[in-house]
Amino acid sequence: MPKSSLIGQSLLRVDGLEKVTGQTRFAADLKVPGLIHGRMLFSRFPHARILGIDCAQAQALPGVHAVLTAADLPNLRPFGIVFADQEVIVSQKARYLGDVVALVAAESPEAAEEALSLIEVQYQPLPAVFSPQEALADSAPLIHAERPNNIVNHHKVRKGDVSLGFAQADMILEREYRTQWVEHAYLELEAVTAVFHHDQLELFGSIQNPFSTQSMVASALGLPSEQIRVRQTPLGGSFGGKDEVMYLMAARAALLAKATQRPVRMQHSREESFRESYKRHPYQMRYKVGATREGLLTAMEIAILADAGAYAASSTFVTWRSVVHAAGPYRVEHVKTDITAVYTNNIYTGAMRGFGTPQVIFAVESLMDELAQELKLRPDELRRRNLLTTGTVTATGQCLNDHPVSLRDVMDRALQSIDYAQKINEPAQTGTTKRRGIGFAISHRGCSLGAEGVDRAEARLRWQPDGTVLLSIGLSDNGAGLNTVLSQIVAQELGIGTEQVRMDEPDTTLVPDAGSTVASRGTLMGGNAVREAAIHLREMLLVSASQLLSLPAEQLSFVEGRVCSNLDPSQVVSPAEVVDWLASCGKSLEATGSYEAPTVDWQEETGQGRAYFTYVYGCQAAEVEVDLSTGQVRVLHLVAAHELGRAINPATAKGQIYGGVAMGLGYGLLEELDLHQGQARSDNLDRYLLPTTCDVPQVVTPILIENPDPAGPYGAKSLGEPTNELTAAAIANAISQATGFRLRELPCDLIKIVLLRTLKPD
Ligand code: MOS
Repeated sequence: MPKSSLIGQSLLRVDGLEKVTGQTRFAADLKVPGLIHGRMLFSRFPHARILGIDCAQAQALPGVHAVLTAADLPNLRPFGIVFADQEVIVSQKARYLGDVVALVAAESPEAAEEALSLIEVQYQPLPAVFSPQEALADSAPLIHAERPNNIVNHHKVRKGDVSLGFAQADMILEREYRTQWVEHAYLELEAVTAVFHHDQLELFGSIQNPFSTQSMVASALGLPSEQIRVRQTPLGGSFGGKDEVMYLMAARAALLAKATQRPVRMQHSREESFRESYKRHPYQMRYKVGATREGLLTAMEIAILADAGAYAASSTFVTWRSVVHAAGPYRVEHVKTDITAVYTNNIYTGAMRGFGTPQVIFAVESLMDELAQELKLRPDELRRRNLLTTGTVTATGQCLNDHPVSLRDVMDRALQSIDYAQKINEPAQTGTTKRRGIGFAISHRGCSLGAEGVDRAEARLRWQPDGTVLLSIGLSDNGAGLNTVLSQIVAQELGIGTEQVRMDEPDTTLVPDAGSTVASRGTLMGGNAVREAAIHLREMLLVSASQLLSLPAEQLSFVEGRVCSNLDPSQVVSPAEVVDWLASCGKSLEATGSYEAPTVDWQEETGQGRAYFTYVYGCQAAEVEVDLSTGQVRVLHLVAAHELGRAINPATAKGQIYGGVAMGLGYGLLEELDLHQGQARSDNLDRYLLPTTCDVPQVVTPILIENPDPAGPYGAKSLGEPTNELTAAAIANAISQATGFRLRELPCDLIKIVLLRTLKPD
């Protein structure tokens, strides 16, 4: 072991230099000899039967290599991670405006574009529904004929008896909150290339998860997975957004490559990305809460409708995370929560950073502030009386006794840092039209997949003759710094520097499957697997060194990256020497490690269970200035206190906070996909407002709180998504404190603020 630990050091990012010097080549930058261009024709209607397609003119166009419709591809199958309800090219009918009815491959993008305009499609428009309410009506058209109705799924939580709980309450509050459609808006647009090498299909592109892409493409095309190799190119953002859309694009590129015997690239424009790619679910949330005069919560009843759009995608998982967290990080004896995801003819919705929690946190944290006001308690005081603490029981019946609950610490640290106790008493008015306010939000968040499914990771290490170590793992660095963290773990265990750790490419033929890089599980799951592989590799090195030195292995120790004899310090050998010697014997030094998450469980029938094996806790507090005349909100200061178990690399951890807060501010104040009759009217970044450097908080104070968890590598848990789930709720609470009125619908944009001010003048 080196003298000073590498764990907890802000080492440089292993991919930093190539990123900041512009050398990183993204999916669309890669040159491929003989490459031709794939394009797709979108449906003209959000719900329509396809009666016929005439491709003759398009096919005759010079430079066009192939035009494909579902009729040409009888072996295509519907696919989906839960419900196989989605088609690569729609065969019978289109269910939203992003559905694809035909594909073209041509020598140039221009020829492909022209060919698209020559395809004639005969549609029979069908009645369409654009909200969960419309979709649930008895008269609603059925979007998927194989389903009995338009419900994708329903989850529930049941604890105690809410009627008893409300009977014990001195005060009952009922409120409704809503959240909007948002776009991931990764700066790098989707791109994927398909190349056939004889019957082997190679796919590479901006793909969040190579293994799930491999299996979904295999199931859509009816090919064995082994015939498909998927490589991930460096990602310019994903945030949960490069799964299903990439499965579809990859499968289409493969179909065109097969038909033309040429490498084919599919690449989205921003408008196409807005039109086709899945979004964050908009939620409609009805909350009813009961409390005693002293501010103890007695009951909570929650009903949520989620718009799933045209396809199920990951809605069942997203809404499950919501149902588990919907009652907030509070002790409530009686809880009844229902969430229903509903098919509509809108753009479909799926994974996005936070994965079903930013919506419910906005609701429950707004509700707690509203309740505090009614009870004439300070928002922090009301929360303190109800916080989950070590040994208490969550809404799902899980006793939090495995690991200390740090919720009180994160709240104290954030509120102290922003000087909450002082500022809450300061006058709001700071100018004729300007008001200042402060607010905060807190959360608990289950780490990794929980009871969603199998939660396992595998990694492999090989000590190479030049002394470097090759790390192969099926988790990928989606921009968060995972490769740096994993390299630090390998380097720490093997007594080398991070520059001596090389990462294998995320490639389904090279690396072991470690499950998807989702659910903020990279450090926790991947870190454990990598650490175990490194420990095995070290043990194997000792055994080989004992053979080389002809000394018993018990007499050898691994010190500062070298093997030495405990008895005779002159007997030393470096790993490179051992590996070199092994190579001369025709052997290599390679070890694998795996990690399986501790047991969790969920009973769908009772709505109870040990949902996640561990949790992280966070508190974000915001100070804002609202201009009542323009509706503009400026976030003056944002404090983000997050308990993450242990910070392996504090600099990358803080980077997660800066990014998560910026994205959360967009959700709270600016971003809204304007969907009208299923069509995105804000279809580029000129009308879809992302936060810029002018909008992000003037000061962001990240606070990392450590509370090592025995289940995590060196105690580390999760951070990526927690940083993004609290910001909108904290800012909304600060706006209410500043203005005296409450916005129950995100985003808190200029129009809503000016409108509410007009309705409720002070
Ligand atoms: Mo992530 S939103 O769990 O891909």
